[in-house]
Amino acid sequence: MQLKLTGITKRFGSLAALDGLSLELPAFNALAVIGPSGGGKTTLLRVIGGLTTPDAGELEIDREQVGFDDESLLTHRRRIGTVFQAYNLFPHLSALENITLPLEKVHGFAPDAARAEAEALLARFQLSQHGDKKPAQLSGGQQQRVAIARAMAIRPRFLLLDEPTSALDPEMTAEVLDIIGELRREGRDLIMATHHMGFARTVADQCIFVCDGEIAEAGPATELFGNPQSEKLRNFLAKTLKY
Ligand SMILES: Nc1ncnc2c1ncn2[C@@H]1O[C@H](COP(=O)(O)OP(=O)(O)OP(=O)(O)O)[C@@H](O)[C@H]1O
Ligand SMILES: [Mg+2]
Repeated sequence: MQLKLTGITKRFGSLAALDGLSLELPAFNALAVIGPSGGGKTTLLRVIGGLTTPDAGELEIDREQVGFDDESLLTHRRRIGTVFQAYNLFPHLSALENITLPLEKVHGFAPDAARAEAEALLARFQLSQHGDKKPAQLSGGQQQRVAIARAMAIRPRFLLLDEPTSALDPEMTAEVLDIIGELRREGRDLIMATHHMGFARTVADQCIFVCDGEIAEAGPATELFGNPQSEKLRNFLAKTLKY
């Protein structure tokens, strides 16, 4: 996929969460967004996903300019499979209904077709016996797998993942990262904020280091991890790789 950001700025009061970000990636498959807490990763992913409108700047995906009017944003959002840090699912719906509801209500699937699609995805992610459970009856890892299944159900142009494992213990983290790695190997494009540097390094072909609302470093993942240029990134990697 292609991504171009030009002068993307987002302010919350006097704070510039994104301070004129520019980036041009003509062709990539997986972009890892790394950086310290509060640096702007989530805000950036929300702008890319059409969930936050920037105060200034331009966004281009697959050589199409994304308009920031309500209508364009809605169309844009519907084409992306989004998975957030935690609590993605509707708590009052079963795992199966969490997948069928958006398919029916947003994407115009007939109930039978939505159900067939949802069942196939639950089977694929080893969740068949959990389809009738509510999120509270599922483990955190299972919940995130349902969230990924739901994101995949709409056949998105790419997946947008914001620290999908941050609320999980190590075993469930591995389970969810395995699935994301598998989707990547199947050729699914993705943009993902993660604190798992080892995973970012193996799965991503491109990486950006977002810090203080700026892209402090950008390039092939192997270069950012193998040969960090800035003091900031060297310090960050030293800290995150310490434990
Ligand atoms: N809705 C909001 N209202 C006010 N300030 C916000 C809002 N969302 C984010 N911020 C601020 O913008 C900055 C960037 O936040 P953001 O969530 O993008 O960071 P992050 O890199 O995703 O951090 P983390 O790794 O902790 O998830 C932070 O200082 C945060 O407090
Ligand atoms: Mg965040």
